[in-house]
Amino acid sequence: MQSSSNIDVTLLAIESSCDETSAAVCRNGKILSNIVATQKIHEQYGGVVPELASRAHMQYIVPVVDQALEKAGITLQDLNAVAFTQAPGLIGSLLVGSEFAKSLALALNKPLIGVHHMQAHVLANLIDEPRPNFPFLCLTVSGGHTQIVLCHSPLQLEILGESLDDAAGEAFDKSAKLLGLPYPGGPLIDKYAKEGNPLAFAFPEPKIQGLDFSFSGLKTAILYFLKNAGTSMLFKEQFSATEEEQKIFIRNNLPDLCASIQHRIVQILLNKLKKAAEQTGINRICIAGGVSANSGLRNELNNIGEQLGWETFIPRFEYCTDNAGMIAIAAYYKFLEGHFDPIDTMPSARASWN
Ligand code: KG4
Ligand code: ZN
Repeated sequence: MQSSSNIDVTLLAIESSCDETSAAVCRNGKILSNIVATQKIHEQYGGVVPELASRAHMQYIVPVVDQALEKAGITLQDLNAVAFTQAPGLIGSLLVGSEFAKSLALALNKPLIGVHHMQAHVLANLIDEPRPNFPFLCLTVSGGHTQIVLCHSPLQLEILGESLDDAAGEAFDKSAKLLGLPYPGGPLIDKYAKEGNPLAFAFPEPKIQGLDFSFSGLKTAILYFLKNAGTSMLFKEQFSATEEEQKIFIRNNLPDLCASIQHRIVQILLNKLKKAAEQTGINRICIAGGVSANSGLRNELNNIGEQLGWETFIPRFEYCTDNAGMIAIAAYYKFLEGHFDPIDTMPSARASWN
C-alpha cells in the first residue's frame, strides 16, 4: 500500500492502555515490527492492578520501543510521526504511553497522532491481505468492551450495538474465576473447551432488544449452577451443595463446563452479528479484539459465514490481543488524512467516540 503522496510514511506507535506494553513500526501501512511485553505481575492478584500496571509500563517502555525500532531496522530520524493510544483504558497506564509519545514527538519535531484503542482493534483487519472492502461490519470483543461497528471508511466508524454491562472478555474471565482458573481465564476456557461437549449444560441466552449485548445474567446463572454443583438447571438462588461438592463437580466436569460456557458466549455474539448483517444488508464481516483469538468463535464465524455467504475476516492472532501494530495502522490512516493532535492533548479513560 502506498501513501497518497508517494513519499514513505514511517510511524512509531505505542500501546499502553492496560497490561501490555507494546511498540510497533509501520511503513506505508505495512507493519515492520510489533513488540509486546505482557505484564506478568497481575497474575498473582487475579486481575489487573492499575497502579502496578503504570509502574510496569514505565519500566518496559524504553526497551520495548528500542526493540521495535531495531527489529524494523530504522532509527528515530526515519520517523514521520509518533502515535499512541489515547483512549479508553486505565488512566495511569495511558498517561505513561502518551507522555512518552508526546516527549518523543516534541524532541523530534514530528506530528503526534492519538488513536482510539477500540477503533484500532477494528482496523487490525486492514493490516494483512486480504483486506475487507468498505463498508464492513466488525464484532469487536475485548476484555473491556463488546461492540458491533459499521465501518464506512478507516476513519468513519459507527457503533451499532454494545454491551450494557460486562464485556465478552469479562464473561470469559469471570466464568473462569468461578471455575477456579487463574487470570486471564479466557484462553484457559478455550483450551479446556476443546476436550468438552458444548451441549453438556444449557446456559441461558439473555433476551436483549436490538444489537446491544448483556453478559451479567449469564455470569449469575453460572454462579448459581455451580453453587448447586450442577444438580439444578433452574439457575435459582437456592443453594444445595457444600463447597467440597462444588469443587468435585467442577473437577469432574471442567472440559464440559468450559465448552458449554464458551458455546453460549459465542452463540450470544454470533446471533447479534447475524441480526446486524440482516439489518444492514452487509455480508463482509470481521472480528477483532482479544476474544477474537478464541478458537470456538473463529470456527463458528467461519461455519456461519459459509452457510450465509458471508465474506469473513479475522486478524492474525498477534493483532487480536492488545498490540501496537493495530495502533500503527489506525495512525497511518489518520496521517494520510492529516489528522494530528496538539502536543498538549490528554489521554482519556472513557470509551465513547460517537
Ligand atoms: O483486546 P484485549 O487483549 O484487551 C482489552 O482491550 O481488553 O482482550 C483481552 C481479553 C481478556 O478478557 C482475555 O481473557 C480474552 O481477551 N481472551 C480470550 C482468548 N484470548 C484472550 N478469551 C477467550 N478465548 C481466548 N482464546
Ligand atoms: Zn484491547
